[in-house]
Amino acid sequence: MGLDPLLRAAAAGADPVRVALPFGTPCWLVTGHAQVRRVLSGAEFDRTTIDIAEIPRTTEESMLVPGTLSCLSGADHQRQRKLLMPHLQAGPVRALHGRIEEIAQGLITDIVAADGPVDLVAEYCNPLAMRVFCEMFGVPFEDCDQLAEWTTQLLSYEAGSRIRQRAGVATARYLYERVERGEYAEGSLLATLVAACGRDEVSFGDMLSLAVSVVLAGFETTSHVLAKFLYRLLTDERLANDLARDGVAMDRAVEELLRVTNFAGGEMLPYRAAVDVVFGSVTIRAGEYVVPAIGSANMDPAAFPEPDRIDIDRSRNPHLSFGFGTHFCAGAPLARAELAIGLAVFLRSPLRDYTISADGLAWETESILWPIRALVAAPRAGSVVR
Ligand code: HEM
Repeated sequence: MGLDPLLRAAAAGADPVRVALPFGTPCWLVTGHAQVRRVLSGAEFDRTTIDIAEIPRTTEESMLVPGTLSCLSGADHQRQRKLLMPHLQAGPVRALHGRIEEIAQGLITDIVAADGPVDLVAEYCNPLAMRVFCEMFGVPFEDCDQLAEWTTQLLSYEAGSRIRQRAGVATARYLYERVERGEYAEGSLLATLVAACGRDEVSFGDMLSLAVSVVLAGFETTSHVLAKFLYRLLTDERLANDLARDGVAMDRAVEELLRVTNFAGGEMLPYRAAVDVVFGSVTIRAGEYVVPAIGSANMDPAAFPEPDRIDIDRSRNPHLSFGFGTHFCAGAPLARAELAIGLAVFLRSPLRDYTISADGLAWETESILWPIRALVAAPRAGSVVR
């Protein structure tokens, strides 16, 4: 949940630190806020020349695939990213707010009616994120469990390369078949991608790979982060009271929770220096790899006064949890809306007073996202369901 102690130690000095990850070539770990922003800004570092055999990584195979959205830059990157925007930027996402609220409220109503212990990951965070994703993306909700299983395998430290390859192929084949049969909702993101392909704005292969990238990025992420928010809320009375205050700015609170809640252990996928770059007393040579530690950057006292304090009223909050620059999260407006609405609906419900049982928290140790696997909460003894 918090920052990996090793990252915190590395962040004590401002300069990049030379590290070796379990696989790939040694690299530079960049931890300061200004330095991480500089890496992400795209001017001196990118991923266009990465070599998947040598890329520093925590999994046997590289999570980055050359030629896909996360590895492109310049006009190629812009062309593909632009295709997602009609569905993911702030305007269209605002139109989804009512629907997100309706889905969240429906889930909460069912949980309250059951009036017993509930796994908030299985019953609230996952279905909320998956339902919203499926409707926006244009595939049936019933297929989401299958998509989630493949995504889990693709993001696993433990799955062997055969399993991971099979999961990647299965996701692409699933999307290929839906596209071939025209089985996607009208007006959805998938429909937009197919139409762009029909107008030759994107090749069929790139369209499919873009769709796979969105599936991989689009629902597990939000579900995991929401689960971590709920865990904090149910275990930190001061935070719960702060969030329940009248007139609290939920959007601002979400930004602060995003700042302190680690995702994937706090480090990001690597970049490669395109030119020699000097950071303080360290020169990173062109061709060397760097890992930007956004979790450390989010705790840098130079950018965030009293970084360890969760201050939901923090007015200036340039956290890097959605990245920065070229590869800034394309789904940030959607994720922000789901988190703010998911949290607000939860806070208005009797679940706010539930408690987490002693063995109610289980971590998923195999995923690079470091998610909560189960978060079992139960009504407080003697409480009455309102
Ligand atoms: C709380 C939830 C989320 C978090 C914390 C998050 C975080 C991030 C981060 C850090 C990156 C940059 C990765 C890199 O290139 O190194 C990223 C990229 C991306 N995210 Fe998210 N994300 C979230 C939700 C979403 C959602 C809901 C979607 C779409 C429905 C999405 C779609 C994308 C896409 C397409 C990219 C690649 C952008 C590019 O390379 O231009 N994300 N996300």
